[in-house]
Amino acid sequence: MAVARILAVCLGNICRSPMAEGVLKHKARFLGLDVHVDSAATSHWHIGEQPDKRAIKEMMLHGIDISDQCARQFTVDDFDRFDHILAMDISNKENILKLARNDADRSKVELILDYGTNGHDLSVPDPYYDNNFGQVYELLNRSSDEFLRKFDPRSNNTASRP
Ligand code: 4NP
Repeated sequence: MAVARILAVCLGNICRSPMAEGVLKHKARFLGLDVHVDSAATSHWHIGEQPDKRAIKEMMLHGIDISDQCARQFTVDDFDRFDHILAMDISNKENILKLARNDADRSKVELILDYGTNGHDLSVPDPYYDNNFGQVYELLNRSSDEFLRKFDPRSNNTASRP
């Protein structure tokens, strides 16, 4: 059984959350952490699609292949299947919280940029229209490092949390 089950969520599940899934899996493997990572969309718009070509290309620049991922929509069952639900932006977070059944569900939902930044309520900018996939990678890289510290027995994770 994995030490943690982590779900990254964005609007389409073709840009930001597949990139987050790829970064988190890559780092967890490097750290030797037994975590289960997946991603999903709040919308149904791209169900069954491969990640956006630009997201695949950006991740390949960093040695991470996300081309085998397939978009799916978040469902209420995901609250049972995952321990941590990481929303890419505030609107994603609000839409996930609308589906929460109780406080236990609500307590699982965070913004990914609650980690690795000093700000509050920060969103990963949507690169679908502005093409800024490099910036998205940098934000996810930093926040994933900080998030995974929670599960790394070698890190002093209480001291490292903001
Ligand atoms: P994502 O980006 O939420 O990071 O996957 C988007 C993908 C598709 C659309 C918007 C954002 N869209 O409008 O289809």
